[in-house]
Amino acid sequence: MSDALAIQSINCFYGDVQVLRDFSLDLRAGEVLCLLGRNGAGKTTALKAIMGLVPVRSGAIMLGDVDLSKLPAHAVPKAGVAYVPQGRRLFAELTVAENLEIGLMARGKGRATRETVLDLFPVLRERLSQRSGTLSGGEQQMLAMARALCIEPQVLLLDEPTEGLMPSMIARIRETVAALRTRGVSTILVEQRVDAVLPVADRVAFVENGQNRRTVSVDELRADPALVRHYVGVD
Ligand SMILES: Nc1ncnc2c1ncn2[C@@H]1O[C@H](COP(=O)(O)OP(=O)(O)O)[C@@H](O)[C@H]1O
Ligand SMILES: [Mg+2]
Repeated sequence: MSDALAIQSINCFYGDVQVLRDFSLDLRAGEVLCLLGRNGAGKTTALKAIMGLVPVRSGAIMLGDVDLSKLPAHAVPKAGVAYVPQGRRLFAELTVAENLEIGLMARGKGRATRETVLDLFPVLRERLSQRSGTLSGGEQQMLAMARALCIEPQVLLLDEPTEGLMPSMIARIRETVAALRTRGVSTILVEQRVDAVLPVADRVAFVENGQNRRTVSVDELRADPALVRHYVGVD
């Protein structure tokens, strides 16, 4: 399988503090790749680096022939990478429809895209004129994903999308990720809990101290539970 995205040995800093160290990751076309690791390991920073939201001091982030690390942040979604940040930042005062409109504008998409996205999240169709701040947590996560999908991305980055959600909502998010895979979207999914990812991931990368220590298939992971204890700890 070809790579959808190749992170090649990037180094990133907050001020003088180095957070990512020769961090590398290959996302294959059409796969769901999960990043697992303890709090503070650098998972969110890796996603921000892809989006151009933290500077990449050395290394490259290749999307096809394009090095995303050379682009300004506003150009990354236009290149086809969608990002749903941790804590789902919506415009709480705006309606569901207005939030989607902002997503569509980012890459000049229109009505057809909006319909496709709403078909994935029918509950949002019933709430188009509701202020997004008044949605439930699960509905807000769906809206955050829907807004991201309005650019028709090749690559989707999800940072802890199931954090704080009820089990039924977690299942819905998981189903959506699986549905997107059948449409050819490649996804990097950050999660804290391994049981949240096993049903949907193809491979898992263990992030520790700013590095990708090891990437394994889900089958390898099931066969060797000690991997999770080692890299994520038991909690
Ligand atoms: N804006 C920031 N300024 C300075 N340090 C930060 C900032 N964001 C995160 N860090 C630090 O970078 C490290 C990695 O954080 P993060 O990527 O958020 O980890 P994770 O998502 O794996 O929990 C942590 O030590 C964290 O304290
Ligand atoms: Mg994080």
